[in-house]
Amino acid sequence: MGERRKIIAGNWKMNKTPKEAKALIETLIPLVKTDDADVVFCVPFVDIPAAVEAVAGTNIQIGAQNMYFEDKGAFTGEISPEMLWELGVEYVIVGHSERRQYFGETDEDINKKLLMAFEYDLIPIVCCGETLEEREAGNTLSRIKEQILGAFDEVPEDLAVETVIAYEPIWAIGTGKTATSQQAEEVCGYIRQIIGELYGEETAAAIRIQYGGSVNAGNAAELFAMPDIDGGLVGGASLKEEFGQIVNYQ
Ligand code: PGA
Repeated sequence: MGERRKIIAGNWKMNKTPKEAKALIETLIPLVKTDDADVVFCVPFVDIPAAVEAVAGTNIQIGAQNMYFEDKGAFTGEISPEMLWELGVEYVIVGHSERRQYFGETDEDINKKLLMAFEYDLIPIVCCGETLEEREAGNTLSRIKEQILGAFDEVPEDLAVETVIAYEPIWAIGTGKTATSQQAEEVCGYIRQIIGELYGEETAAAIRIQYGGSVNAGNAAELFAMPDIDGGLVGGASLKEEFGQIVNYQ
């Protein structure tokens, strides 16, 4: 297995106004070490300018939580990848389970977003994960496979390798119920296997796969030590000083 650099991203969801975002980032900067891991704050759209300004001069990068899959046009209320790029955004979360669940995003939409993100040099953090019902019915791996094949349809190898995949079991998101490190590793390893089948061993060894779902300062070290887990996508705990401990988990 090659040397994959860890990536730890905060998904702020619909929290913090621009002023609050600036204050939180100023609190977090001295707590977050960026020597050994890429650190990304995925903030609400309107917070992006304040966030980009607040992280200037650090290695912390800013991400968005969504985007639309068209360049421009009559799509009231949507945000284009070019708009994000112009503001200095470097990552974009695509296909978070809350987008799938509450806003009806399909694997096809997610695939279009993935392809469009690359057009504007945005690195997608593409999410996948099973519901509790799917897990209990023994359908976790088949559901994950369906989501990964859907997301990566027609995505060429040179772009696929840049993508970050976040495995987020839906039953673990915001519930305080973390997947065990074995459960998380099983699925992340399986995702790497699917990427290997699609693109070959080299890409599989290089692509970064995060775990997300109730990551906190107490469980990060164990999760991130697993061979196929290259960091985390952190929701609730990314809004607190605890995020510093998660990033500095070693
Ligand atoms: P959580 O959210 O850490 O609050 O469970 C993770 C996510 O939804 O990205």
